[in-house]
Amino acid sequence: MNFKNEEEKQLYYIEKCKELVSHKANVLGRKLTACVTTFGCQMNFKDSEKLEGILNKIGYEIIDNEHADFVLYNTCTVRENANFKIYGRLGYLHKLKEKNKDMIIALCGCMMQEPHVIKKLNESYKFVDIIFGTHNVYMLAELLYKRLFEGHKVEDIQEGTDLIVENLPQIRKYSFKAGVNIMYGCNNFCSYCIVPYVRGRERSRDPEEIIKECNRLVQDGVKEIMLLGQNVNSYGKTLDNPISFATLLKKVSEVEGLERIRFMTSHPKDLSDELIATMASSPKICKQFHLPLQSGSDTILKAMNRHYTKADYLNLVKKLRESVSDIGLSTDIIVGFPGETEEDFLETLDVIKQARFDSVFTFIYSKRTGTPAAEMPNQVPEDVIKDRFNRLLEVVNSISNEKVLEKENSVETVLVEEENSKIDGYVTGRLSNNTLVHFKGDTDLIGQLVDVKLKKAKGFYYLGEIV
Ligand code: 5AD
Ligand code: SF4
Repeated sequence: MNFKNEEEKQLYYIEKCKELVSHKANVLGRKLTACVTTFGCQMNFKDSEKLEGILNKIGYEIIDNEHADFVLYNTCTVRENANFKIYGRLGYLHKLKEKNKDMIIALCGCMMQEPHVIKKLNESYKFVDIIFGTHNVYMLAELLYKRLFEGHKVEDIQEGTDLIVENLPQIRKYSFKAGVNIMYGCNNFCSYCIVPYVRGRERSRDPEEIIKECNRLVQDGVKEIMLLGQNVNSYGKTLDNPISFATLLKKVSEVEGLERIRFMTSHPKDLSDELIATMASSPKICKQFHLPLQSGSDTILKAMNRHYTKADYLNLVKKLRESVSDIGLSTDIIVGFPGETEEDFLETLDVIKQARFDSVFTFIYSKRTGTPAAEMPNQVPEDVIKDRFNRLLEVVNSISNEKVLEKENSVETVLVEEENSKIDGYVTGRLSNNTLVHFKGDTDLIGQLVDVKLKKAKGFYYLGEIV
């Protein structure tokens, strides 16, 4: 068969799978079901919306538990714990498959890009039916068709790709907010991180395509868009007609009807003054900045291959706070990188105290096979790491608590996201700076921007009252 492009080819396989699935549903006298479980970051969650879109188009009813005819785990491997979790859950799936022989088990995502994982799956988890990686998420229908039609296990892991395949069906989890991929992969090779090995080299999407997608989403009722990339600050550098991330943000800000823009994730080494100025001048860009620090020690930052110093980082924080009033800052910290001394750790605490982050994502260093850090001497003993981790949490929490108090009793705009799961008659939304607010309100408010008085600061969130 000759296809005009990859999209056309995949739409063909979606139709072929649809025939097979519909036939099976007729035989069983019920709809077939599929469950996609996502591990890891925003990029994986976005990929899962694409995977669910394809499965839904094929005719599966999407459900949220693993008692399904098709179960797919979209995996993460950024820390070793993520891998353990998958192996554990595969044991559970095996039991389910023994009861439903026709059940199809599929695995995709970052963990599948590691050769030692594939080896282990082939040796000890032979009941897995379909395995694919991060570069060919769009091929789900083609791979499923092979499995259904040919009846044997299908494995398709690609080393890398230049292809960007969009415009296949997607199911959005929220009607009023959406993620938009602006780039794929990462070229930074931070020495602890496995992402560049499993997600491949940096590839930016064409800006016009991004704007078209944003326009489509807004016409479909979306109010908030999150621009997604592993390092959005280096967006556009490798395009035939290079443009900066700040220019892209300006273009996205011009999308009529769009109310809020966020972006994830930034690397401090590429954060430009142009971007800060763009944030300061566009009311649509949310006052939220996630800027991973990782460590406050210059020695450790160097060993991490981060290309900035403690002073550079603090200078960026100063510029951000001076230019964008009220900005909410968040960061990532790794504790226990090889060679981290008590002095190094104290430098990290010092940055946290000076920068006064609104929230901090804290991670214990995890050794990832194949990364330079895994080979470094002086791996830090577990008990030392645990002690530092606890001390870090104490500082982080006490600062966050103080930060939320600063806005107590002010009135802020909230995008209402969902019914509150804990308090009857309450809904939950987010401020521009990303803090959560719970307040009394009808579910009709979901997807709307409303003004709320922040009556009580509660550590990481507010209890509010609609005004
Ligand atoms: N160990 C611990 N944390 C890690 N991260 C990335 N790789 C590792 C690792 N090997 C953290 C970084 C990154 C976040 C997404 O995950 O802090 O910013
Ligand atoms: Fe990993 Fe560094 Fe790339 Fe982030 S910037 S994905 S931490 S290599």
